[in-house]
Amino acid sequence: MSDQDSAPAPAAKKLFIKTYGCQMNVYDSQRMAEAMGAEGYVLTENQSDADMVLLNTCHIREKAAEKLYSDLGRLKPLKAERPDLKIGVAGCVAQAEGGEIQRRMPIVDLVVGPQAYHRLPAMVRAGRGVDTEFPAEDKFEHLPKPAATRRAPAAFLTVQEGCDKFCAFCVVPYTRGAEVSRPVARILAEARDLVGRGVREITLLGQNVNGWHGEGPEGAEWGFGRLIRAIAEIDGLDRIRYTTSHPNDMADDLIAAHRDEPKLMPYLHLPVQSGSDRILKAMNRRHTVAQYLRLIERIREARPDIMLTSDFIVGFPGETDRDHQDTLDLVRAVNFGTAFSFKYSPRPGTPAYERPEVEGAVADARLQELQALLSSQQKAAQQGMVGRELGVLFEKPGRNPGQMVGKSDYLHAVFVEAPQAKVGDLVRVRITHSAPNSLAGVLAA
Ligand code: 5AD
Ligand code: SF4
Repeated sequence: MSDQDSAPAPAAKKLFIKTYGCQMNVYDSQRMAEAMGAEGYVLTENQSDADMVLLNTCHIREKAAEKLYSDLGRLKPLKAERPDLKIGVAGCVAQAEGGEIQRRMPIVDLVVGPQAYHRLPAMVRAGRGVDTEFPAEDKFEHLPKPAATRRAPAAFLTVQEGCDKFCAFCVVPYTRGAEVSRPVARILAEARDLVGRGVREITLLGQNVNGWHGEGPEGAEWGFGRLIRAIAEIDGLDRIRYTTSHPNDMADDLIAAHRDEPKLMPYLHLPVQSGSDRILKAMNRRHTVAQYLRLIERIREARPDIMLTSDFIVGFPGETDRDHQDTLDLVRAVNFGTAFSFKYSPRPGTPAYERPEVEGAVADARLQELQALLSSQQKAAQQGMVGRELGVLFEKPGRNPGQMVGKSDYLHAVFVEAPQAKVGDLVRVRITHSAPNSLAGVLAA
């Protein structure tokens, strides 16, 4: 403000955002915060002093969706006390349930789907509304640039959205819509901009990120591997990751990028969901166990030290003990660095919704058994890091003075005594110790 301006600046309004679910929601929450920043809102960590509360929701499993309603229930007294408090629901529950949310919870002022959130500021100005369209315009073109205030050395960048795979259990094709790839030039511009602001690691995001495709500068057709190579050319960027991938879209060029591109981290999340061909077919995954295992073999040939992670669903309709044993066999055959496993949750509107469910107690027991096996593999993978020298990108100070915490090449949290270091330093660390969810190490000489 200039000296001539005598009126005091209006006090900034405070925005509290709660993010549920996947990393894409984390990215969307940042972009919504930036859009609302242009309207004079600043982020607060404290829900009780917010002028607006925005819940960015997840619809992937029933429990995730139910969290929204219990959180809204808890907001009721706050809204009764301060009727001008604005309450917004964004994300995939907003998309799936739309106006129903307001009917069930009249305290909700705004409902905005994941493809329409660039319109959030206008909705806030209007006061109340529901927007769950899939607009023709690209929301990213209508959002402010990622904020200059971001200082984290690791950032997300959404390059692809939506999914055309239609796995029989999954709501994503309905809530996020059809697969759309962002154009090369926009992605490169956003990546350069992030790097210019001190970002050294970028995780490329998409529901089916390896299905990304686009047109290169000379009109050539680019696949995801080619995009990674182009991003790797950005000076000052040290690390590239991506998530999440479908096995059927692991193109040769992407596998080759894991061999040739040192900035591409040796870590791959490749969900398989089940180790039974019968169940994979019922899930509409469109690949077999043998094809998945062959793919893993090829990826490991390209990058022998790669760490693999996956997602599993147990208790999918029709799953027998034999199918479950096949899943355990697949886990033993691959040996994952870590993995997420879930009990099947029937989702309205998906093909599997009406199918007879596996008995709850049986599914619970299978989940426990699978998780025990996966956690033993995770422990062994972490233990295997002890004695190795790895890159670590410091993301924040640790609990003790002089300590820093960062992520290793393999995405493990690593605690290091490094009193001279600062956030954003990428250092070599010799791993000395493995704790349940982290590693410890010393700076390599
Ligand atoms: N029930 C349980 N887990 C699910 N996932 C997706 N849909 C469901 C469902 N209906 C899991 C899959 C997916 C991960 C993001 O969530 O494993 O890869
Ligand atoms: Fe859902 Fe992933 Fe299957 Fe797409 S590929 S339908 S996002 S589980």
